[in-house]
Order: sequence, then C-alpha cells, then structure tokens
Amino acid sequence: MNSGGEASAIKVRGILLEKFYISGGKPLTGKVSIGGAKNAAVAILPAALLADSPCTIHNLPYIDDVICLADILKETGAKVNLKQREGAYIDGSTVTKYKASYEMVKLMRASYYLIGVLLGKFGKAEIPLPGGCEIGARPIDQHIKGFEALGANVVIEHGVVKASAEKLIGNEVYLDVVSVGATINIMFAAVKAEGSTTIVNAAKEPHVVDVANFLNSMGANVKGAGTDTIRIKGVEVLNGCEYTIIPDQIEAGTFMVAAAATAGDVVVADVIPKHMESITAKLLEMGIEVIEGDDYIRVRGVQKPRRVNIKTLPYPGFPTDLQQPISVMCCVAKGTSIIHESLFDHRFRHVEELRRMGANIKVEDRTAIFEGVGGLSGAPVTATDLRAGAALIIAGLMANGVTEVDNIHFIDRGYERIEEKLTALGADIRRVKDGDKPLKVLLGSSNSAR
Ligand code: EPZ
Repeated sequence: MNSGGEASAIKVRGILLEKFYISGGKPLTGKVSIGGAKNAAVAILPAALLADSPCTIHNLPYIDDVICLADILKETGAKVNLKQREGAYIDGSTVTKYKASYEMVKLMRASYYLIGVLLGKFGKAEIPLPGGCEIGARPIDQHIKGFEALGANVVIEHGVVKASAEKLIGNEVYLDVVSVGATINIMFAAVKAEGSTTIVNAAKEPHVVDVANFLNSMGANVKGAGTDTIRIKGVEVLNGCEYTIIPDQIEAGTFMVAAAATAGDVVVADVIPKHMESITAKLLEMGIEVIEGDDYIRVRGVQKPRRVNIKTLPYPGFPTDLQQPISVMCCVAKGTSIIHESLFDHRFRHVEELRRMGANIKVEDRTAIFEGVGGLSGAPVTATDLRAGAALIIAGLMANGVTEVDNIHFIDRGYERIEEKLTALGADIRRVKDGDKPLKVLLGSSNSAR
C-alpha cells in the first residue's frame, strides 16, 4: 500500500477509535530493541528534499507521524518509499511544489520543517500552521525570527505561513527560547544560504545532532551541533546520501520506566546510554537498579520506588517527553514527589486519567504534586496526547485489574508496534477495535484477584 493509502488508513484507525485492553500486575521481563528516533526521523525525511539526488535512510521508525509525513512530501512531488527493503528511499529531485495541504499538515507538528526545507531549496514555501499534540502553546515565532534573519519575508495569511526570499544570506540568530524545532528549521534554511550562519542558544538534543550529521552527510557544512552555538557555512549543492538514524531516546526511556514501574527486569537494547543519563539518574534516585552496557541499559524495578523531584529542561536536562511516563511511578512512590514542567503549559492532561485509577495528584500551574498511594487500579482512561498515552499504558501495566486505553491513535504516532514489544516482555495488552472486547476480558478472568 502506498503511503497515501497508509496515511488514510491511519485516519480510518483514528476514526475507528482503537483501544488497548491491559491486564496489569505482571512484571516486564526480557529484552526489547529500540527503534529509530521519531524526532530525528520527522526532520531528516523532509531534509532529504534539499538534496539533488536520492537518499536512503536506515532505522527509520515505521510510525504514523513518519507515514503521514511521507504523504506530505509526496504532495510536493518527491518520490518516497518507506518500505524499501534496503531502507527508506527519498528523492527530492522531483519536487516541484512549495505548498502542502492543511488536511495532512494539521495531523502533525513536524510538518513545519517543510518551511525551512522548501525555503532553503526554492526560496519559497507556503505551509499551513502545524497541528500536533495538545500540550500547550506551540508558537513558531523563533523559526520565523531565524528565516527573517536570513533575509526571508514571512507572513501568516489565513493560517498559512508564506515565506519567500530572493536570496538567503547567512546571519547570526539568537534564539530567545531554546527550541528544537527552530534550531533544526533554521539549519535547513541556512545550509544553502550565501555565507555563514550562527545559531546562538541552540537546542542540544541528540536528534538535533543527528539532523546536523545527516546534513553534513549530504555535503553541508554544519559545526557545533550538540553545543549551544551552531555554525553553518552555506554550500552550493547537496547530494543524496545513505544515513542511519540514532536510537529513540524517548522510546528507550519509556521502556526503562515501564520496566521499573512493573518491578520487572528488562534489557533495553540498541540504545546510546549517554542519551539516557537524565532518566537513568532519576530512576537511580527512586531506588531502581540501572546497569549500563555499551549499547543497552538493564533496568530492574522494585515494589515501592522512592519519591523524587523532577524538573523538565532542554537536553541534557530531564526530557519533557518522559515527564508523563515517569509521573506514573510518582503515583505509587513512598512519600511526596514533585514534577515541574518547564517547557509546556498544558502537559498534565494525563493527571485526570491517573486520578481515575486511584492516584492522588494535585496540579498547581506547571507543578504536579504526587502523594504516593498503595497502588493503582485498572479503569477506562483516554489518551489525550502521545506521551500521555504512553503514561496510561504504563499505569495499566502496573495497575491491579483491567485498564482500557482509548484514543490510542495518539500513541501510534510515536511508538512502533508498542503492544507487540510489550507482549514480548510478558505484558497482557491487546489492541481492539471500538466495540469489540478481547475474549479474556469478556470472560472476566482478568478481573480475578491477583
Ligand atoms: C520538539 O517539539 C519535539 N517534537 C517535542 O516532542 C518535544 O517535547 C520538544 O521538542 C521539546 O524537546 C518534535 O521534535 C517533532 P521546542 P518543538 O520548539 O520543536 C517554545 C513528542 O512527544 N517555543 O523545543 O515544537 C515552546 O512553546 C513531542 O515527541 C517558542 O516559544 O519544541 C516550548 O515552550 C511533543 N517559540 C519551548 O519553546 C518557538 O518558535 C520548547 O519547544 C518555538 C518554541
């Protein structure tokens, strides 16, 4: 099925309101292999359009955001084949359009990368304002600040960002806010600009470094990625390349937390432990055993984790994308735990759902205060965004009884085959269409006392 068909299948799945049924209380054990980084993939795919010849991308996660993005890229005329056996194939040499439709763009936040790419490639881009997870205000003023610093004229008309430039000229851009998206998008506009660009106060996330490495593989001249100052020297031509995406820091962290939360014993494999340092540190603080290998991390949980205080920060601080998953452990930790969400103003929507499972949580503005309870109980809950959905799965795995997680299309945006990976670790989790119920639940055996 081509990505167009797959993207429409995603929409159908969302409409079908698939659910996960989880019978909790089983420790996760075994080994799980982590896939390619979503937040690198959704930038590298559009970036491939900057090249005048095809790219082959390995370790691309086959998730809904990637499938949707492939569809958007095909709208511009690019040739895209995600399921080519020898890696995803993207040919930007056939791109003719500098526009994308709202219908697809509204499905995901990362569609804004098309602005920087098409501006960098054609000097023109007309892309609707992005959609994406409802976790708070998601402005793009810093992206626009960067484009304008390079000489582009940018207006927003009827919800469409219209950027154009006779010629992009390198400049210095100081980011008022450390922004992953703005850092990456400005790199895209700068790689073929005339002269040099410096991004000051740049984001340092692993996926920012991965994107810079990909651009350099195509022949760009990007230095300093991973520090707060990135220098780009414009080049005339970028050529297709072969590239392998780094492991997903957030998927790895999600499975580390799931292992700890279920008092399990799991080897999280094919990761870069350095990228996981902040999660490892917090799990150790909570009394979890964490053993680091060269390309794996073993996590052995305990029945009652210790309390913890967490403040989300840009990398190398604790990642905001793991705040919701680890908050589940705070629900049952001994004592009072506090989580402060520094980046987004609406990223505690999972709290209401955790309360339905027996959690004792108070939210004051961007701070959540958790009073540890004896345990969580299974309940019907609703995913409100990608990482809230991941948190509710972890809560269901840990809870006593059956948890039904609704709106799981959010989860499919960022986790590939999550129920298959969890089942292989011993979880009892089933994906069902709305209205169906897995036989086991119908027979009521899952509610038997554990
Ligand atoms: C990226 O979003 C990720 N998404 C998010 O992951 C992640 O939570 C976020 O970075 C922080 O790490 C992708 O990479 C596709 P930001 P992005 O620009 O780029 C403010 C997930 O679950 N800001 O780094 O949109 C913004 O409001 C998703 O995988 C401005 O003020 O995040 C926020 O407070 C969710 N103006 C802060 O900066 C701007 O122009 C960080 O946002 C841009 C951002």
